[in-house]
Amino acid sequence: MTLPTVRTVADLRARVRAWRREGLTVGFVPTMGALHEGHLSLVRLARARADRVVASVFVNPTQFGPGEDFEAYPRDEGRDAGLLAGAGCDLLYAPSVAEMYPPGAATTVTVAGVTEPLEGAARPGHFAGVATVVAKLLNQCGPDVAVFGEKDFQQLAVIRRMVADLDIPVEIVGAPTQRAEDGLALSSRNAYLSPEERRQAPALHRVLEALLANLRRGDSVAAVESVALDALARAGFQQIDYVEVRDPATLERLGPGPAEGPVRVLAAARLGRTRLIDNVGD
Ligand code: PAF
Repeated sequence: MTLPTVRTVADLRARVRAWRREGLTVGFVPTMGALHEGHLSLVRLARARADRVVASVFVNPTQFGPGEDFEAYPRDEGRDAGLLAGAGCDLLYAPSVAEMYPPGAATTVTVAGVTEPLEGAARPGHFAGVATVVAKLLNQCGPDVAVFGEKDFQQLAVIRRMVADLDIPVEIVGAPTQRAEDGLALSSRNAYLSPEERRQAPALHRVLEALLANLRRGDSVAAVESVALDALARAGFQQIDYVEVRDPATLERLGPGPAEGPVRVLAAARLGRTRLIDNVGD
């Protein structure tokens, strides 16, 4: 099955306008391609929430820092299009960098607060790149609902904040993280892991689940974070950027004592050249 594909804002808007004339609702799934079952679960969720589904594939240069993997990021539009069609997507939007950022483009969306810790601290400028491209994609497509994975939990919080602050008329839906059988969160970057690193990688999820269980048993935030840090180092992770218990809505840090109420536990660490992130909550 060939998936209809558009590459310009004008063509995307024309397709969406035609659906609107028929009274159909539109769901949107932004991606950077290199699709896996996690992305396809977002498409299926969008499909359940709207009459038509658009997915975008755009490797957004502005959210990669110097020395990150923009050039190496896996790109295979034919494979992605086949997977999207199989999951029930109706239209692929695959703009060029020049279409997204025409010469003279000078506007950046920055979101304060929720962008600052965790990924924001480890990857300066990353969330300005994400917020800007997502604001543009939402304006270009004009969907009723847009679906993002909880795997990038902070990104989801940033997008919710931005959509509320800029009065963008779209419902943002978060979708649960999809995992391999051994617990590793599905991610396009898992492709970078060597066989040995792939065997070590599920420890990230195990450590986060153990941290959450210890917290729920009444251990203090400071104690569970320190135990988890040691456990990740013992499991072979290097450069552990953070393993922290945070407020699930604001991502603010919790006090060092026992936690009451809902929490989100987030971590980022490297195995060899691959930086993995994951999170769990209750
Ligand atoms: O999560 C991603 O794949 C990207 O950050 C997104 C939301 C498509 C923006 O480029």
